[in-house]
Amino acid sequence: MLLAALAALVTYNDIAPILEQRCLGCHTESGIAPMPLRTYAQVRPWAKAIREAVVKRAMPPWFVASTSVKFANDASLSANEIALIDEWVKQGAVEGPRRGQPLAQAPPSHAADLVLTMPQPVAVPAKGEMPYQFVILPQSFPHDRWVDAIEVRPASRGVVHHVVVYVREKGSPWLAGKAVGKPFAMPGATKSDILAVYAPGQPPSIFPAGMAKKIPAGADIVLQLHYTPNGRPTQDRTAVALRFSTRVPERRVLTLQIDTTNFLIPAGESGVRVSAAGTLPNDTLLLSLFPHMHLRGAAFEYAIVEPGGRIETLLLVKPYQFHWQLSYQLAEPRLLKKGTRLRCTAWYDNSLNNARNPDPTADVRYGEASSDEMMVGFFDVAVPADTDKSTFFLR
Ligand code: HEC
Repeated sequence: MLLAALAALVTYNDIAPILEQRCLGCHTESGIAPMPLRTYAQVRPWAKAIREAVVKRAMPPWFVASTSVKFANDASLSANEIALIDEWVKQGAVEGPRRGQPLAQAPPSHAADLVLTMPQPVAVPAKGEMPYQFVILPQSFPHDRWVDAIEVRPASRGVVHHVVVYVREKGSPWLAGKAVGKPFAMPGATKSDILAVYAPGQPPSIFPAGMAKKIPAGADIVLQLHYTPNGRPTQDRTAVALRFSTRVPERRVLTLQIDTTNFLIPAGESGVRVSAAGTLPNDTLLLSLFPHMHLRGAAFEYAIVEPGGRIETLLLVKPYQFHWQLSYQLAEPRLLKKGTRLRCTAWYDNSLNNARNPDPTADVRYGEASSDEMMVGFFDVAVPADTDKSTFFLR
């Protein structure tokens, strides 16, 4: 009896590996989360809150409510991991045999051929909301380069809530006249190609073998950074580490989008549905999905509408959280045949019940500011290497 009870005792020893692998991407002294979870002493006061957060699947942040595919960057805990943490806390959250070293998360890193760092820091104040910051990196690419892995490396991880890395092609009117290297604030929207999306705790973007993103000759790289003040004034100089493929890959990765600017979200209403659809002009491999709305965004769905009308939900993000701009990377590329109809549906909550709503009395339309709305379903596809967006859409 006693032996059985002992054998079933769950200690910190048993759950520490889960914390190490699943929580320390954010819960370190320098991470985005409010408290570090690296030692028993740090974890113990939070035991009840941890149990509640994992049982409700509020932590780790991961917002997939429904999907027909598997995601490589799935952050959610398995049922076993949740049961173990649940049991540990119910049994009193004891330490058990000492584990010694505090937990340490190895920073996700890969060998890089070129590391580009913001030449000037952005000053992040202690409090308040900050508009998106943009930095045009002072790097010229005289020849085409193929990027097969990208890692965004914030200097102050505690305040960087997301980064979108754009490729601005030569001659693009976007940000024309803005100084290179100097951060500036503005709302963000562009049709420029996306190289990578960073969110705290997420792995670097590594494309499947034989696939890469192209930086065409003459293009430059623009960062869009979302900072969230965390109580202390700080500075950040984020870097981007690029790995180049040594030869032209078989396939080029392109970021496409299904979007609409034609909508009205009436004041005070919830469950407002906006959808847009497109038909793929050619066979392609689907690699990832990246939904984008603003503060009234409540849920977002990507679906394949089959000719007979059957719907396959590739991804339903619910609840959608503006602060977590996540890209969902398919574990296996998914073949989408020519003629496949992709539909994106967004739901908005413009009522008082939405705690993030800046103004429930306003009718809201498309706009670039966070107080306006957007409806964009970005998705990455792999196409033959000599194809670009315009030739992909030729049938
Ligand atoms: C991707 C980053 C990230 C990961 C990974 C993560 N957290 Fe968090 N966690 C946060 C942030 C940020 C907050 C602050 C509240 C918020 O923004 O949701 C938080 C808050 C919490 C809270 C406090 C909730 C409350 O009651 O205020 C607990 C408990 C927690 N996390 C536990 C965990 C545990 C346990 C894990 C791993 C199983 C984990 N988190 C993984 C980012 C993360």
